[in-house]
Amino acid sequence: MTELTDTTGPASPAEPVAFPQDRTCPYHPPTGYDPLRDGRPLSRVTLYDGREVWAVTAHATARTLLADPRLSADRRRPGFPAVTARFEAARNRRVALLGEDDPEHQRQRRMMIPSFTVRRAMELRPGIQRIVDELLGAMIEQGPPAELVSAFALPVPSMVICGLLGVPYADHEFFEEQSRRLLRGPTGEDTEQARRRLEEYLGGLIDAKAKETEPGDGILDELVHQRLRTGELERTEAVSLAIILLVAGHETTANMISLGTYTLLRQPGRAAELGADPALLPAAVEELLRMLSIAEGLQRVAVEDIEVAGATIRAGEAVLFATSVINRDPAVYDDPDALDLHRPSRHHMAFGFGIHQCLGQNLARAELEIALGSLFARLPGLRLAAPAEEIPFKPGDTIQGMLELPVTW
Ligand code: HEM
Repeated sequence: MTELTDTTGPASPAEPVAFPQDRTCPYHPPTGYDPLRDGRPLSRVTLYDGREVWAVTAHATARTLLADPRLSADRRRPGFPAVTARFEAARNRRVALLGEDDPEHQRQRRMMIPSFTVRRAMELRPGIQRIVDELLGAMIEQGPPAELVSAFALPVPSMVICGLLGVPYADHEFFEEQSRRLLRGPTGEDTEQARRRLEEYLGGLIDAKAKETEPGDGILDELVHQRLRTGELERTEAVSLAIILLVAGHETTANMISLGTYTLLRQPGRAAELGADPALLPAAVEELLRMLSIAEGLQRVAVEDIEVAGATIRAGEAVLFATSVINRDPAVYDDPDALDLHRPSRHHMAFGFGIHQCLGQNLARAELEIALGSLFARLPGLRLAAPAEEIPFKPGDTIQGMLELPVTW
């Protein structure tokens, strides 16, 4: 079982709670966030270093603020919140897309949009289905039981993003390990070392692609041949884009597959319902995204004073978005703590909102629908192979997901 952060207990509304905290159940917000769920749109929370910052907890306020250009995503700005010491160590780095404000952000995003449209995701579906079928076939042949994270949840998005970017899947152990260290390494130094190794690796790959006369058909090949060679993009920027696409492209979806499976298996009848009726999949995926809110605590800093929801966020003050709480706002969702595979939950904030809203969301939806739909259709008897409370999940300061998922059928 994951070691749990000692929560601040039932704080009074005026008393800031610690943020982030480990979840007590992997698919519910930490019980230590209960004071953040008292109906106030904004609260004060305390970071690991004792600093107090704003936390947005209401859906409407989150939409307003995430669309406000007076909030910056540039982590190099003074006052930008560091949710862990690891993050603090990396704050002087320029991060493509996610850490850029407009107009730089818009310039980078425009280069990427054609590769991530709804139509492109539709075209990728047959390839995703093939990957899912092969991995499930291998798992079924070897099992039961199986460890679902390593056999299925991680390789599906890893293979998909490798194909899409033009990164050799043969190197997956290397980049999955660096990605894990980047997102949850034990120290700032470890995180930085992982980033350097990813930079060297992807930089080398970009250089090799630049020497090819005939470009391959991956996104990195396109970037090299259409943007780098023309001088529109510099090598460091291309490497930074490659890192974010590779890391964001597999970690998040892998966590949704593992945690989504765990959650469905803990709700009697739900997995079978999904396996038997593929028409339910799109709504079910949205509901899982809402309920699990795996990307918790989006970070920004105010560059000007902002009046919002009866409060003033001063220039230089940090703002966090508590997505697990926002996505359970009772003003938007009836019975928000219940998993309802039939509810229309499309307006959730699991992919963020505003200019940084997830670039890969169409791809992620396709992967999740195919992975979860195929898993439960092929293995209607799928169940956990260990007591649910003993299965380890990820700590609260990172993207939520399962560390392991022992299953049988
Ligand atoms: C279910 C899986 C996923 C979840 C829950 C997720 C979540 C998010 C969230 C919440 C953001 C906004 C962060 C912020 O505003 O600070 C984001 C941005 C982003 N995501 Fe995803 N993501 C997922 C899958 C993917 C995939 C498959 C890719 C593929 C490459 C991807 C690439 C990106 C990129 C590049 C950004 C930055 C966009 C920008 O700043 O313009 N994500 N994601």
